[in-house]
Amino acid sequence: MQNFTFYNPTQVVFGKDTISKLPRLLGTHQKILFLYGHESIKKNGLYQKVLELLGDRELVEHGGVDPNPKYEHCLVGIEKIRKENCTFILAVGGGSVIDAAKFIAAGVKLATDPWDILLGKAKINEALPLGAVLTLPATGSEMNANSVISRASSDEKLAFASSYVFPQFAILDPQITYSLSMRQLQNGLVDAFVHVLEQYATTNEQALVQDGFCETVMKTLVQVTADVKVNPPIYDARANFMWAATMGLNGLIGVGAVQDWSTHGVGHELTAFYGLDHAQSLAIVFPALARFQKERKKEKLIQLVRNVFGMKDCSDVDAAIERIESYFRDEVGVKMKLSQYGVDSLEAADRVSERFKQRGTRLGEEGSLDYKAVYEILRSC
Ligand code: NZQ
Ligand code: ZN
Repeated sequence: MQNFTFYNPTQVVFGKDTISKLPRLLGTHQKILFLYGHESIKKNGLYQKVLELLGDRELVEHGGVDPNPKYEHCLVGIEKIRKENCTFILAVGGGSVIDAAKFIAAGVKLATDPWDILLGKAKINEALPLGAVLTLPATGSEMNANSVISRASSDEKLAFASSYVFPQFAILDPQITYSLSMRQLQNGLVDAFVHVLEQYATTNEQALVQDGFCETVMKTLVQVTADVKVNPPIYDARANFMWAATMGLNGLIGVGAVQDWSTHGVGHELTAFYGLDHAQSLAIVFPALARFQKERKKEKLIQLVRNVFGMKDCSDVDAAIERIESYFRDEVGVKMKLSQYGVDSLEAADRVSERFKQRGTRLGEEGSLDYKAVYEILRSC
């Protein structure tokens, strides 16, 4: 096991009707930027609930956060905070809204262009405090220090992380997932699963506790998949899904292990260029990437299917990859090829690898994937 420091200050309040705890969690903050996406929280009643609960406080609304939140929209949020002197950001939504809250929280304290944060040029020394009411289990953003922001004008999608932007609290009520569409449920299952893969399907570091955590999270996702997709919704299936997704990326399951975020690295570019949903990109890239690196990842992929899918006798890495692929395709029910979204894989391979070439990007656990490798991987997608 490798050395690590583990720090996570987010207070999680989980369960039915936990939204009622919101006033207490906000403490003495009186002027709050209320950040949300488009219509979903108005349709499912959460918007009204927040207004009722926070009746005495002043809410400065900033709705309209897009999926894959936009830098340009965040800048408007920063201006609102400055003008109104808000002291807290309340993010009510999925990963996009929470990520936008983090970027705004850090950006508002910066004298220079906040885009510098994403370019790694600005050092974050402080941030406005924020809290999250999660509506979509997927990203883990409610309990981590990461944020991914897109810039519409240049088709870029970049990430940053800072311990200053951990949400102070995260309210997780599985009942709020009842209004999610099938597409968003499928996306959430895939995203959470791939988060675990990125922390697990690497080299064997003898991080036994983490391997066990990872396998449990993946097993839980597999176990609840069918029940998460039924209507009327089943509370326990949604609850286990929600908690599995949070555990998938709150830092805990990956400590001491070697991580490889290549699937996300390539997937973000597919979203930036072609507008694929985050999870749609991951389902396509992971199997191709695993096949490309199968010698390196063989041991863990076989361990995975033995312990997660019960294939006790498996010793063939190709069969292991096929089993993971069939979980996405046949059980979750997502598309597995770029062509199914009308994207030409050769063109995508050209565009993404060219961008990585210009940036000098290297992916993989030891930086073993250069732009030429990414070209080969995408060609087969
Ligand atoms: O905008 P509204 O109307 O709210 O609708 C949203 C949106 O259209 C809808 N939705 C959310 N909760 C709902 C709901 N609809 C009905 N009922 C509900 N309860 O779902 C759509 C997608 O929402 P979004 O927040 O974009 O989805 P997700 O949570 O998957 O977030 C994706 C973003 O997170 C980033 C992704 O790159 C992407 O930008 N990620 C963030 C990470 C992190 N911070 O650690 C890690 C991830 O790997 C990921 O990169
Ligand atoms: Zn993800």
